[in-house]
Amino acid sequence: MFSAFSTAAPGLLTRGLRARQSVAIFGAGSIGAFVGGMLIAAGVDVVLVGRQRMQQRIARHGLLLSDLNGTNLRLAPASIPFFTDPSVLKDVGLILVTVKSADTRTAGELIGLHAKSSTIVVSLQNGIGNAETLRAVLPGWKVLAGMVPFNVVQTEDGRVHRGTEGAMMVEPDPDLSNWLPLFRSAGLPFVVNGEFESVLWGKLLLNLNNAVNALSGVPLTTELSQRSYRRSLALLMAETLKLLAAAGINPAKLGKLPPWLVPHVLRLPDLLFRRIAGAMLRIDPQARSSMWEDLQSGRKTEIDYINGAVVRLAESVGRDAPVNRKIIALIRRVEAGGGAEMSGEDLLVALRSALREPVPPGPVAARLPD
Ligand SMILES: NC(=O)c1ccc[n+]([C@@H]2O[C@H](COP(=O)([O-])OP(=O)(O)OC[C@H]3O[C@@H](n4cnc5c(N)ncnc54)[C@H](OP(=O)(O)O)[C@@H]3O)[C@@H](O)[C@H]2O)c1
Repeated sequence: MFSAFSTAAPGLLTRGLRARQSVAIFGAGSIGAFVGGMLIAAGVDVVLVGRQRMQQRIARHGLLLSDLNGTNLRLAPASIPFFTDPSVLKDVGLILVTVKSADTRTAGELIGLHAKSSTIVVSLQNGIGNAETLRAVLPGWKVLAGMVPFNVVQTEDGRVHRGTEGAMMVEPDPDLSNWLPLFRSAGLPFVVNGEFESVLWGKLLLNLNNAVNALSGVPLTTELSQRSYRRSLALLMAETLKLLAAAGINPAKLGKLPPWLVPHVLRLPDLLFRRIAGAMLRIDPQARSSMWEDLQSGRKTEIDYINGAVVRLAESVGRDAPVNRKIIALIRRVEAGGGAEMSGEDLLVALRSALREPVPPGPVAARLPD
């Protein structure tokens, strides 16, 4: 799959624009390395800020950027400006924040310490509330919400592979007009969307599969090919859709189907599902959710910012979200080292049982982070 790499020649397209148009990736992991790497390959002036482990990996292997459509680009280590010291942010005009949600506040604080307040900051994270967290620690800065629809996985040998499709989105802002062509040139166009609450909730509906996939222990295509996992996901989505309706939020349609139809399609028997929604299975056979990766490496997951956001939404409209609460508890158990992979049947039984469990006393959201 990675044999026929072409070698990118960074710096050719935008050499004249360097001083004005430097982009920083803050938190160069899977998404950051892919987006940053594609920009570097297109000649955009980019700095990657991340951890030493990633720096060492890149120093050893460079980056191998690939996608399911056959893109294969190799960036040599010397062509990738990777720093662990955030003081490099002082010279950039645009910062893309690609840390996991639990690290957003710290990322914002470091940006505030090192970058110029005229720098545009775009959150490219999943979950609800990351742009707000950045705005809170960067008062007076231009902070925009963004959204990455595709899945990226990285491996120890420097491969960063995009396993699904879709165009990135960002909130509208006149100051973005200088920057958007750079992303187009890198084959990663940003679609500007003025309804970002809708976009983020539309993405969150898709991200409800992260926990299901993490608990399944199998690749996304294998998981979604099994009806019991799909029915589990349908339970989570149906609960969330009802709460969104109660809150007057209309989630954006980000896939081929309107959000309200997705739970119905997920519940179909396997054969019918494959006929009607085969496109949902157009995923790299090895792709898994990043929540699965987090559990494997003993990191805290983004469960509080995805399913936890649903629980908070429920409380905001005076309701409960028992199915989402249940899957939070299941992920917590694994995070604490006490859980194992679950079959689709076991997961479905556990989530259904939550619908019959009594509501715990006190606000559930109070036990979740901000
Ligand atoms: N991966 C996907 O397919 C995908 C798709 C769409 C959206 N997203 C979203 O994009 C965001 C990033 O996801 P990801 O999968 O790319 O995460 P990731 O691979 O964990 O990358 C984030 C990187 O940022 C580093 N980091 C955290 N705090 C830092 C700091 N203060 N200074 C320097 N580096 C720091 C992390 O290092 P440590 O781990 O050592 O802290 C990690 O290497 C998440 O919100 C995710 O939900 C991911």
